[in-house]
Amino acid sequence: MKIAASFLDIKEPKMEELTKLDSLDIDYIHLDVMDGIFVENKTYTYEEFYNITRFTTKSKDVHLMVSDVKKHIDEFSKMRPEFITFHYEAVSEVSSVINYIKELGIGVGMSIKPSTDVSEIAKYLPYLDLILVMSVEPGKGGQTFIEESVKKIEQLYTLRENKNYHYQIEVDGGINNETIKKCNKADICVVGSFITKQDYSEALRKLRD
Ligand code: DX5
Ligand code: ZN
Repeated sequence: MKIAASFLDIKEPKMEELTKLDSLDIDYIHLDVMDGIFVENKTYTYEEFYNITRFTTKSKDVHLMVSDVKKHIDEFSKMRPEFITFHYEAVSEVSSVINYIKELGIGVGMSIKPSTDVSEIAKYLPYLDLILVMSVEPGKGGQTFIEESVKKIEQLYTLRENKNYHYQIEVDGGINNETIKKCNKADICVVGSFITKQDYSEALRKLRD
């Protein structure tokens, strides 16, 4: 299981905290980009995100919770992340956004909210490098894991097996040392408050147990 660490719940993240996160046995730094429109909360501008993460060495996993998707893709592609993930619910021309990210040579991720079914997005799955299953309502950290997400992960896992798709399955929201076990068919778990609200290395040890 790969782990993407989210620093959403660190107030005014500083170099010291980011360096500490970066030194853990994690695979990605997860950037939660919120615009105050698609979700109520607002995080940072591209320049601020760049400054916060510029000392880190891990690959970047950008999660766009925004309505102006293309503008944010243009900005965040500059930091050459491994993935840029947009929300299915935020766009009207899904295929054009997928191709837009693909043409930049960046991994294409698409995310679905808890209320969106896998059947609704099935036709886009062959073109995705990553599918992000939100296991809480997007918008804030520290929420409780929604159990129905496990079913979605399993559906996506079976579809990939049967149809030979190549996407990675990522789950985001409410992941701790207990809920991570239920997500064993996911490839990447995003973990925020469980890491940042305790000793980081101790949290990692519990997650990896
Ligand atoms: C929620 C964000 C998540 C969040 C996860 O909208 O997309 O990445 O930071 O935080 P925890 O792990 O605290 O649920
Ligand atoms: Zn996220």
